[in-house]
Amino acid sequence: MPDASPAKWHLGHTTWFFEQFVLAKESGYRPFHPQFEYIFNSYYETIGPRMPRAERGLLSRPSVDEVRTYRRHVDEALLSRWSRLPAETMALGIAHEEQHQELLLTDIKHALSRNPLRPAYRAPIAGAPRERSHRWLPFPGGLVEIGDAATGFSFDHERPRHRVFLEPFRLAEWLVSSGDFLAFMTDGGYERPELWLSDGWSAVERHNWSAPLYWESHDGTFFLFTLAGLRELDPAEPVCHVSYYEADAYARWAQARLPSEAEWEHAAARTRVDGNFVESGRLHPGGPSAALYGDCWQWTRSAYQPYPGFRPSPGAVGEYNGKFMCNQQVLRGGSCVSPARHLRASYRNFFPPATRWQFSGIRLARDA
Ligand SMILES: [Fe+2]
Repeated sequence: MPDASPAKWHLGHTTWFFEQFVLAKESGYRPFHPQFEYIFNSYYETIGPRMPRAERGLLSRPSVDEVRTYRRHVDEALLSRWSRLPAETMALGIAHEEQHQELLLTDIKHALSRNPLRPAYRAPIAGAPRERSHRWLPFPGGLVEIGDAATGFSFDHERPRHRVFLEPFRLAEWLVSSGDFLAFMTDGGYERPELWLSDGWSAVERHNWSAPLYWESHDGTFFLFTLAGLRELDPAEPVCHVSYYEADAYARWAQARLPSEAEWEHAAARTRVDGNFVESGRLHPGGPSAALYGDCWQWTRSAYQPYPGFRPSPGAVGEYNGKFMCNQQVLRGGSCVSPARHLRASYRNFFPPATRWQFSGIRLARDA
């Protein structure tokens, strides 16, 4: 799959990030391998040419052992300079690696789903008992502040903190469930162009979408491919692996809409980062339904744009976020494969609207 990378590549790339952005500036550091910059550079044009993403699956060499040796080489070089390493770049390298820890699981799930043996990554965990809320949380709106509140590390695109005006709105306390989504499907959701954005309807036709990714119908019963293998769909758990287009069409069908990223952040800023994250070990949505965070990334109606006064970080690392601010939608909240410490109210994730292999789900909003 052109968007996914082999596990070995993730390990090499996160290692390369420290080598490129921290160690390359250190006198006396010897790069591990002259070709690794080409192999493990992801998208940094300033740094130079690189292996096309869609061909990363062809990397039968270096071996996993060689990549691990590369990692040890870089770890040792970092540790021997630990006290004088640039704190901000190191924090960025660690946050970057946390993002790739999530991508690793996302990509492994996709690869296993395409394997005819349907292998499981892990043994199943029994679902937590869930009280389903159907509360709409009311917000009066007004002039509010969003963006990095300077409480710790943040990415450049979370800055600067700035004012936004919100009309009164309501936010669903629950994530749309698989059962809810099934009702949309049963009501002809995938066959009714009036529910879809024009680009979304084109995507439905082009990809023959008739259900979320990883759903399979066997004799009229839906099954779901999970990191614990194939199992029957649980209608109570949050629907996951939907595109922005499907989230938007569902919201229209449900006579609601998707929240803006400012609405989501304004609501989340008053709650703790609490929910079903990678630490729970479930690696599947199904945490407490009232949590704003976790389970699934939530598509917002906000296009991924710079905040007023945004300045990308100087140098090649400025390519991290800013150059993607076109044709992508913002997602908020983290997922069941995000590390908890990686998240905060101002955290912005972004993907093109047709993306489905991420753990992406739906939270609804309404005008008050
Ligand atoms: Fe990366």
